[in-house]
Amino acid sequence: MGVIDRIGIEHPVVQAGMGGGIAAGMLAGAVSAAGGLGTVGILPPKKFENELDLAYEQSGGRPIAANLLVPFTTRAHVEAIARSKARVVTLHGGFDSRLVEQLQEDQACVLATVGTVDEARQALAGGADGLVVQGIEAGGHLVGVEPALEALRRIHDATRSNDLLVAGGIATAADSRQALEAGAAAVVAGTRFLLTAECGAHEAYKQRVIAADRTFETMLFSMGWPMRHRVIPNAATDRWCRDDPHGPRAIRRLASLTSGMRHLPMTIADRFAMTQTPAIPFFGPAAPLAGMPERLVDATALYAGETALRIQSVVPAAVAVRELAGVP
Ligand SMILES: Cc1cc2nc3c(=O)[nH]c(=O)nc-3n(C[C@H](O)[C@H](O)[C@H](O)COP(=O)(O)O)c2cc1C
Repeated sequence: MGVIDRIGIEHPVVQAGMGGGIAAGMLAGAVSAAGGLGTVGILPPKKFENELDLAYEQSGGRPIAANLLVPFTTRAHVEAIARSKARVVTLHGGFDSRLVEQLQEDQACVLATVGTVDEARQALAGGADGLVVQGIEAGGHLVGVEPALEALRRIHDATRSNDLLVAGGIATAADSRQALEAGAAAVVAGTRFLLTAECGAHEAYKQRVIAADRTFETMLFSMGWPMRHRVIPNAATDRWCRDDPHGPRAIRRLASLTSGMRHLPMTIADRFAMTQTPAIPFFGPAAPLAGMPERLVDATALYAGETALRIQSVVPAAVAVRELAGVP
């Protein structure tokens, strides 16, 4: 039985985990209630557990997933998942076979996000139950290096796995159909669900994404977590990415020295984000959430994928699920 049948969802539509409160319990619960698979993004452990509980409650008892960013994952996150009703875990930002083993001991089905054949082979050999193949058009942090459907074909040819989900470029029923016809077991969408009523992002962030006319890959928001990410422009990127979209070399070098900071508790990283201004080039990975000061929309990362250019409105999550599933 394929991994999506084992999970037992009505539509092969997965809402991507989006950490720090962007995809929390309300969004994940609404997606699962509508027959997709909702995913709670990583948060500090206690909050993570509360949001997983909320997601399950909102879903009406349907399957829900938890997302872990591997560099930030602690034992307390694994224990929070074990106590919750999430029995699907998606991993991103690295791979750790011991983590997979621990999650599977707690009966979780583990999907690893990959962008290349080497990463796919490593994750399958390391025990992953399936893979999320991310394309370079995806929003947020990137392992993707080529368009999603090309990566899917390449990874399928190399691994012969049928448990491959596709992330990147999914915003309509036609996108989903194309991915499923290309052999994907399910589609994973982030930007489409960023632009939903239940998503925890700041309203001004959502409106900026709708109005955006380009996205680009950068390293600007890398303090504490140096990894490529796709964003839309704001005052911070206008100021610091003019000559090089990745940001000034000195800032990137500084960021690479701060990768040890990822072991700081996530609450400290959030507090750090609140102090950011476009003029001081010291930018961490946190994105602006509802309830934060609106000025942060110009000082923090506005993650979005290339589908931002094709999405025109914020809709209820259930509408987005039906749209992607191609059901009226
Ligand atoms: C706002 C935003 C935040 C994201 N945060 C995470 C995250 O915390 N964990 C993760 O696995 N992926 C994250 N991603 C990437 C998604 O998992 C997924 O690969 C991507 O959204 C797919 O491309 P799309 O945005 O074109 O749908 C994020 C994406 C966006 C747009």
